[in-house]
Amino acid sequence: MSEQPKRTLVTSALPYANGPIHIGHIAGAYLPADLYVRYLRLKKRDVVWVCGSDEHGAAITLRARKENTTPRAIVDQYHEEMQAAFAGLDIAFDHYDRTSSKEHHDFAQGFFLDLLKKGAFTEETRQQFYDPEEQQFLADRYIQGTCPKCAHDAAYGDQCEKCGSALSPEDLVNPRSTLSGAAPEMRETTLWYLPMDRHERWLREYLESGVLDGAGHHDPKAWKAHVLGQCRSWIDGGLQSRAMTRDLDWGVPVPVEGAEGKVLYVWLDAPLGYITATRNWAQKNGVDWKPYWQDKDTQLVHFIGKDNIVFHCIIFPILLKEQGDYLLPHNVPANEFMNLEGDKISTSRNWAVWAQDYVDDFNGRSDEMRYVLASIMPEQRDSEFTWPDFQARVNNELADVLGNFVNRVFVLSGKFHDGKAPGASGNWTAVDQALRDLITATPGLVGEAIERYRFRDALQHAMGLVRAGNKYLTEEEPWKVVKTDPDRAADILHLALQVTANAAIVLAPFLPRTAARIAAALGTSDLPWDAAGVALVAAGQPLGSLPILFEKITDEQVAEQQGKLGAGVEGMRDVEPEKAQTTFDDFQAMDLRVAEVLTAEKVKGADKLLQLTVRTGYDERTVVSGIAEHFSPEEVVGRKVMLLANLAPRKIRGVVSQGMVLMASTEDGGLRFVTPEEGAEPGDIIR
Ligand code: MF3
Ligand code: ZN
Repeated sequence: MSEQPKRTLVTSALPYANGPIHIGHIAGAYLPADLYVRYLRLKKRDVVWVCGSDEHGAAITLRARKENTTPRAIVDQYHEEMQAAFAGLDIAFDHYDRTSSKEHHDFAQGFFLDLLKKGAFTEETRQQFYDPEEQQFLADRYIQGTCPKCAHDAAYGDQCEKCGSALSPEDLVNPRSTLSGAAPEMRETTLWYLPMDRHERWLREYLESGVLDGAGHHDPKAWKAHVLGQCRSWIDGGLQSRAMTRDLDWGVPVPVEGAEGKVLYVWLDAPLGYITATRNWAQKNGVDWKPYWQDKDTQLVHFIGKDNIVFHCIIFPILLKEQGDYLLPHNVPANEFMNLEGDKISTSRNWAVWAQDYVDDFNGRSDEMRYVLASIMPEQRDSEFTWPDFQARVNNELADVLGNFVNRVFVLSGKFHDGKAPGASGNWTAVDQALRDLITATPGLVGEAIERYRFRDALQHAMGLVRAGNKYLTEEEPWKVVKTDPDRAADILHLALQVTANAAIVLAPFLPRTAARIAAALGTSDLPWDAAGVALVAAGQPLGSLPILFEKITDEQVAEQQGKLGAGVEGMRDVEPEKAQTTFDDFQAMDLRVAEVLTAEKVKGADKLLQLTVRTGYDERTVVSGIAEHFSPEEVVGRKVMLLANLAPRKIRGVVSQGMVLMASTEDGGLRFVTPEEGAEPGDIIR
């Protein structure tokens, strides 16, 4: 591998604090970083891993609006919930921060002013979309319209989620405000732009040749092909200037006089959160933060999902370079996407395995999920999680190979050696020697794969040692050999114990709980990476008892989990899909009024129908309503109801119905009247 850095600063994408974490997030930016960092810690290297909640951005204000609450309430809730979910999966940041804090606002404002002073921005007055009804400028996310590429009719101003195209609001056909539904107008506003075309040259050089411009260098060959590919195509397409401020009221205020109502662009503010988090971590630990961002012997590594590549490989590096004091990333090992049971993961369709749900349903079994996600991590291409595959990997690999092997080693040592590690004669057979060689080689193979961000390979190398140990035990049959040749049986168990202890080391990043259990049974809590080797467990070392490491996943559990996909989230109903969008004009065309039921009787020969006379305030008319199975005529008379009054008259069972009474259908198939508040009178218009 490349020469060892003096220190490593690892970041994981700051998750938006507007919804819970799912396994796609975990596999994308958090588990790989956790594996990497755990490995470096076991190597006793100087490493710090920071993350935090991304608490600004239009998605958060939109969500708050939808839930009739404040952005502050939303981010406070998810800031807590996300941390709990991470902890439940043993995702162990050194520091988890948040971008709505005063420290972050102060730092981000200072950074912005620095760049402003250095001339990094241009101030431009341009036309922006403006919602005339809400009287505010519209962030890209607040504008929807038809995608120019695929004709999807609900594409956003920054992206079409159907075809994945990156868009600008001006690209949309028939744009509308998601706040009011109104057609947006263009209005002038002054914003600060980052002219990125100025930076194409050095960026290309940095990406292609690894020259970090005075701040050390990195090896572009070590970058993932899909990451470099995406960067190249951005630069080849020509870098446009991008607004670094927005007209919004939630975010880091632009610290310039006369810039009231403007905040920093969330993709300027959020990555600076990495620096804020490092500063706060350092302060907490009484050390200097600066070397982690400014000393060229530091390697900065950003773990992200592929939708964040341009921000981490182009925009943020430009900002850092313009400021001048900071390192650029040594690597950005972005992952691709993980799909789920044949479909894209989708929050809105609840097609997701939520981290917290998993933690709740599989209490204490975080290692199992970590193992499966590491096995199928979308490192080079998209991958797919399915529950049957989860079951197969847990049962066939963790339970039947790892659990079974380690369990046999402890049971046999207890039985034949009084719970102490047997010594060895030193007369190794060829088979023994091959296994000893594998023990010696494995930590290096695992470590090298981890340092190259090849976590799947790393796990395969680690499990390869376990498989070899399991096979060795099965074929050498010490439980039989002990009857005729106890010394040979001791040699076999001695070696199997070395495999066990080494497995606890190389699997520790992936399966921290399991590794700790094995280590405890071996009488230790500290198994650093460099302790690995063929003489790790000494003769006579007392062995504790080992709990069952892995329970099998049952078919019922698989079915139960599959049944949750697409179903209502906790606290939410399993609802019918929303109908296609309608327009305000269409709504206006409906004449909705309060009416009072004067009479009601069953319609002859029709079980479901009641014939009602209703008073509308300006006339009395007949309405036929399909509610007879739910309400008797007596229950209906005298009620105030909501009436769709201008529905074209229709003859139902010989009776002309002039309008429709609105009902709410309940989850269990029942019906309820939509009753206006006390005091509403027939004829009151509903709008
Ligand atoms: N919140 C963004 C997302 O979830 C990631 C922000 S990463 C940071 O896609 F660098 F901006 F912090
Ligand atoms: Zn599209």
